[in-house]
Amino acid sequence: MSTILDGKKTSEKRLEILKEEIGESGLYPHLATIIVGSDPASQMYVRMKHRACEQVGIGSVGIEMPADATTRTVVDTVRMLNRDAEIDGILVQLPLPAQVDAERVIGAISPEKDVDGYHPENMGHLFLGRPRFSSCTPTGIMTLLAEYKIPIAGARAVVAGRSIDVGRPMAALLLNADATVTICHSRTKDLAEELKRADILVSAIGKPHFITAEMVKPGAVVVDVGINQLDGKLVGDVDFEAVKEIASAITPVPGGVGPMTIATLMENTFRATKERACERVL
Ligand SMILES: NC(=O)c1ccc[n+]([C@@H]2O[C@H](COP(=O)([O-])OP(=O)(O)OC[C@H]3O[C@@H](n4cnc5c(N)ncnc54)[C@H](OP(=O)(O)O)[C@@H]3O)[C@@H](O)[C@H]2O)c1
Repeated sequence: MSTILDGKKTSEKRLEILKEEIGESGLYPHLATIIVGSDPASQMYVRMKHRACEQVGIGSVGIEMPADATTRTVVDTVRMLNRDAEIDGILVQLPLPAQVDAERVIGAISPEKDVDGYHPENMGHLFLGRPRFSSCTPTGIMTLLAEYKIPIAGARAVVAGRSIDVGRPMAALLLNADATVTICHSRTKDLAEELKRADILVSAIGKPHFITAEMVKPGAVVVDVGINQLDGKLVGDVDFEAVKEIASAITPVPGGVGPMTIATLMENTFRATKERACERVL
């Protein structure tokens, strides 16, 4: 039976600490979110982010753009927020509609306000081993592993998935923490064999119950990033009930990685606020 890596409890603890820090700082951080279209899942994530802002004392502004918005109008909105001295962090909710060039939109965000850490400059810092803003989901996972004192240096870590928001930055953060890292994807030969070697297995594939107990080394730490619908229920990539019997530690879905993502966004926003305040003084 494994330890449950409780992201809900850990994130609540982090948010309480952050609320105190913000209260004592005399600063009033502001986050702006941009959502294009009306995808219900995206709308729910953005609402949760605004709620967390309220909880910790971060002001938030939500900009809603129509589903037929162009790359130009989204980029112009980002630039307007870049110039707005009140705004410390900018988050563009992904995915964007197909006609909007996500790369150009992300590239338009000022790196100092890029609290999601997707801008190529921030990705570069991360891969150079000197992260400034690194993306919220993988950073939240590192915080959760630290909370439960999971040893990372020297561990064999396998990341399933190579997206820019999860897989790639996750691999970079684990490497920066001295793990030996393998990244798997849809073209990986014998995925099960690769996964079975993991001391720390992170799954960000997006397929319900894809990771079965046979693919997991007994005693491994299993982090499930996946959010999938199965028979009307929210489930991860991992067959939780079977895998929890052999893993040493495992994240549940829901209540694992998701809350850590939001807590990290709040922490990144306050960090941006502090850095911008320092720059004004210098
Ligand atoms: N909890 C959170 O806060 C949070 C945050 C972000 C995402 N998520 C969830 O995490 C999951 C992944 O998100 P994402 O944005 O990273 O997704 P994504 O951009 O769709 O990437 C999925 C990755 O999985 C790989 N993959 C797909 N099928 C595979 C297979 N059969 N074998 C091996 N690799 C396979 C893909 O490989 P290729 O590159 O070769 O196509 C790709 O790299 C989704 O369920 C998403 O909802 C959760």
